[in-house]
Amino acid sequence: MKLKTNFLIIGSGISGLSLALYLSKLVPDERILLITKESLHESSTFHAQGGIACVWNNNDNFEKHIRDTLVAGDGLCDEKVVRKIITQAPERINDLIELVGVEFTRNENGEYDLGKEGGHSVRRVLHVNDQTGQSIEQALIRNVKKLPNVEIKEYWCAVNLYAENFKCYGAYVLDQKTNEIHNITAKATILATGGAGKIYLYTTNPDIASGDGIAMAYRAGVIIANMEFYQFHPTCLYHPYAKSFLISEALRGEGAVLRNISGNEFMQNYHPSKELAPRDIVSRAIDAELKKSGDDHVLLDIASKKDPNFIKSHFPGIYENCLKFNIDITREAIPVVPSAHYSVGGCLTKIDGSTKVKNLYVVGESACTGLHGANRLASNSLLEGLVCSYECAKTLGNVIKDLKINEFKEWEPGNAVPSTEAVIITQNWDEIRRFMWNYVGIVRTDLRLQRAKKRINLLLDEINQYYWDFKIEKNLVELRNLATVAKLIIVSAISRKESRGIHFNLDYPHKSEMSRPTTLRRPW
Ligand code: FAD
Ligand code: SIN
Repeated sequence: MKLKTNFLIIGSGISGLSLALYLSKLVPDERILLITKESLHESSTFHAQGGIACVWNNNDNFEKHIRDTLVAGDGLCDEKVVRKIITQAPERINDLIELVGVEFTRNENGEYDLGKEGGHSVRRVLHVNDQTGQSIEQALIRNVKKLPNVEIKEYWCAVNLYAENFKCYGAYVLDQKTNEIHNITAKATILATGGAGKIYLYTTNPDIASGDGIAMAYRAGVIIANMEFYQFHPTCLYHPYAKSFLISEALRGEGAVLRNISGNEFMQNYHPSKELAPRDIVSRAIDAELKKSGDDHVLLDIASKKDPNFIKSHFPGIYENCLKFNIDITREAIPVVPSAHYSVGGCLTKIDGSTKVKNLYVVGESACTGLHGANRLASNSLLEGLVCSYECAKTLGNVIKDLKINEFKEWEPGNAVPSTEAVIITQNWDEIRRFMWNYVGIVRTDLRLQRAKKRINLLLDEINQYYWDFKIEKNLVELRNLATVAKLIIVSAISRKESRGIHFNLDYPHKSEMSRPTTLRRPW
């Protein structure tokens, strides 16, 4: 089917939904089509726990939040962008409260309760207990569903953008219910497709996080930046049946300590801020402890630090979820391991999501605006999605009068036949996730990176062949994107001859004096 819209938004996390909301208010007569590859709420946003960082009271000020962000970013943040996003935070959070109806948790005095996380010098994280993302996502969905000029399509998976000479015309989209590929022409296309944690064997991310937006944008000619900086969260629940369940940094903010299996605390050996050091340091410390001991996990202990009522009221989601696995966090320590969590790099954009490809915008985790540099400060990500979507809406509202719809050619299925060997997809997927974890994980070496490069080249050839031979299905689209993003990470990691932020290479354990963002443009 051929479809036309003025704005095509791909993705329904905080970035896609808040963009639809802001844009609809600015240009109520323009048609907006928002598509998403699963049900509407399925996103990393929905799973966010700790909260959203913002200067909120007199104990804090913008300079402190800016400094903490720059320190975490380890010399690679764009300070102008950092300032712009952080100074705009209170206004945008007010939008969440006033316009969207998010009810952040308050303390007994009726003031908003501010949480603390690693790398923050003061308490500044607004949250809804430990289920902040779920509350934000649900409130945004309620609002967006009421907008008369926004049409929503669930289970529509973007397969590829159509771009020629650095101009984007829209996207090919697989309707998973009919298996039809639609040709959607738009005046502007906005990718709000989130991160790529599924590239790694262990991740906090939901299944949607396969890097689709970054891979599609790369193929369309967008510059991709800083992909070597894949952030690992120190504490994901370690249990054979617990899939990707995060144990929020907010527990450490409230005094939880890390212990090895023998019960000894160890963070004092790694950083003066101990459990509240920036995440790369905590993740590497756990990795070092595990390598030393040969154990599978370490322990996170809040039980001995806080009374059960405090734990249950502050962390009801984590308490309930751990209980499902027979872990009572009010009585015992939680087994945890570091896991891939957040794509610090992505499509190089300005703060309003604009890219080098005309009419193509990228917002949220898929973008690299310069806010996070070489490492993201906890709870700055929801904030970035919100502020950049607001800026993107403003820009789109201004340029819409100059944009036209330009049709492009229909999808050509060629001689593709239905796939007979789905096992190829699962095999390749498993292989990528395993070698990315082992060779391109928390601690890297040149040899491991070169091994990973050899393997990804082989797999990419095989996957590309499969892509053209067989009928498109979502798993195949995701596998192809995953492989592309894996290669972007490997090539970027090989090119960085130093250790900085989250990128740690034993062959270059120090920072080099001259350092700049890594940028890649097609082909590689
Ligand atoms: P997402 O929320 O991931 O949304 C992406 C959307 O794009 C989804 O709807 C997906 O289905 C859709 N999509 C993807 N590909 C396609 C395609 N090909 N076609 C159609 N649709 C597609 N950050 C914080 O600031 N504070 C926190 O407390 C916090 N906690 C976190 C906890 C967890 C467990 C995780 C995983 C992340 C957490 N983060 C947190 C990070 C933060 O949640 C994400 O970075 C942020 O929500 C990303 O928002 P987004 O809108 O860019 O992407
Ligand atoms: C957490 O709650 O620990 C996650 C916070 C984040 O990723 O910003």
